[in-house]
Amino acid sequence: MYLTGLTLENYRNYRSLKLSLKPGLNVLTGENAQGKTNLLEAVYFTSIGKSMRTPRDKELIMWGEDRARIKAEAVGRYGRKKVEFLIDKRDNKRVAINGAEVRKLGELMGVIMTVLFSPDEIAVIKNSPGDRRRFMDIAVCQLSRAYFYLLSRYNKTLAQRNRLLKSGTDGDTLDIWDMQLAGAGAKVIKTRRGFINRLSALADRNHRYLTSDKESLTLNYESLAGETEEEIRDVFLSELKRTRDKDVLYGFTHVGAQTDDFAVLAGDVDVRKYGSQGQQRTAALSLKLAELDLFKEESGEDPVLLLDDVFSELDEKRQEKLISRLSGFQTVVTCTHVEENLKRYFTDANFFRVQNGTVSEV
Ligand SMILES: Nc1ncnc2c1ncn2[C@@H]1O[C@H](COP(=O)(O)OP(=O)(O)OP(=O)(O)O)[C@@H](O)[C@H]1O
Ligand SMILES: [Mg+2]
Repeated sequence: MYLTGLTLENYRNYRSLKLSLKPGLNVLTGENAQGKTNLLEAVYFTSIGKSMRTPRDKELIMWGEDRARIKAEAVGRYGRKKVEFLIDKRDNKRVAINGAEVRKLGELMGVIMTVLFSPDEIAVIKNSPGDRRRFMDIAVCQLSRAYFYLLSRYNKTLAQRNRLLKSGTDGDTLDIWDMQLAGAGAKVIKTRRGFINRLSALADRNHRYLTSDKESLTLNYESLAGETEEEIRDVFLSELKRTRDKDVLYGFTHVGAQTDDFAVLAGDVDVRKYGSQGQQRTAALSLKLAELDLFKEESGEDPVLLLDDVFSELDEKRQEKLISRLSGFQTVVTCTHVEENLKRYFTDANFFRVQNGTVSEV
C-alpha cells in the first residue's frame, strides 16, 4: 500500500496543504518547529484515528480555528482508498472512508496501515509497561477490527468496575462485573499472547540481522497463567476474588490485562532493566521491523512506514541496516538534514522541504 496524497486544512501549523506522495522513499527536511512531525502525525491519525502525541484531538486544530480536516488517499492491493477526518472543537471527530461516513472508529483499522518509528517508539523497551501495552494494542488493532472492539469492551467494563469499587457496592453486583471482565480479559490476553509469540520469532530474525548475528532476541508475554481462553478466565476470576478486599479498599482493580507487559530478552538478559542504551534501541528497532514483517504477512499488504527523526538516534551501521530493510515499502522520512553517509541511499528519493507549515518539492 502506498499513499498518493495528503490534504490538510487548519491542521496544526498547516493552513492549507495539498501534497502528492510517491511510492518509495519520501524525504522531508526542514529546520526545527516547521511542521515535519505534524505531517507524519496527520498520516498516523488517518491510520488509527489518534495522534501519537496527544489523546486530545482538539490540540490538532490550528490555534484560533474551529475545525481541522485531514484527508489521506492511498492505493492498496484492492484499489484506491480514501480516509477523511473532520475534527471539530465542539463536536466529536467524524470520519469517512471512501466517501461514506462511518460511525464506529473500528472500521478504520487496517484501511491505511502504518508503522511509526520515532525516538519515542524507539524508547518503548525502556519505558513503562503501559507504553509496551500501547505498542501491542495499536499493532493488533490495525490487524483486527474484532480486537479493537474487544479491547474497548474490556476497557469500558474495567472503568465500570472501578467506578463501582469507588462508590461502594455489594458483592453480588461485583460478581457480575467480575464475570464480564474476566470473559473479555481472557480474550484480550490470549490475543496479545499470540501476537507476542509471533512477533518474537520475527523480532529475533531482525535482531540477528541488526547485530550481525551477535545477539538473539526473545519476547515473552507476561500476564495471568493459563493457555486456553477458559483457563485464563478461571485464573482471572480467582485472582479477582483473591484481591477483592484490596480492590475495594483502594477503589481500583489490581489484576488483569491492564497490568500486563512483555519481557524482552537479549540472549538471556532482560533488556528492559539491564540493557545498555544501544541494546535497548536496537531491540526496539527489531520490534518495529518485526511489526512491519507481521503486517505484511498477515494482511498481504505493505504498510506505510513513518520515520520521524530516527536516524540521528542510531549509529551509522544501524542507519544503513535500517535503510536496506525499507526497500519496497513506501517510507516517509523526516530529518533536519540528510547526513553524508546516507546520501547514497537516498538517490532515488523524492525530496520535500518543510517550512513554516508549507511543503515544497525540491
Ligand atoms: N494546534 C496548533 N496550531 C498551530 N500551530 C501548532 C499547533 N500545534 C503545534 N503547532 C506548531 O507546529 C510547529 C511545528 O511542529 P512540529 O512538531 O511538526 O515540528 P518539526 O518540524 O517536527 O520540528 P523538530 O525538528 O523540532 O522535530 C511547532 O512550532 C508548534 O508551535
Ligand atoms: Mg519533529
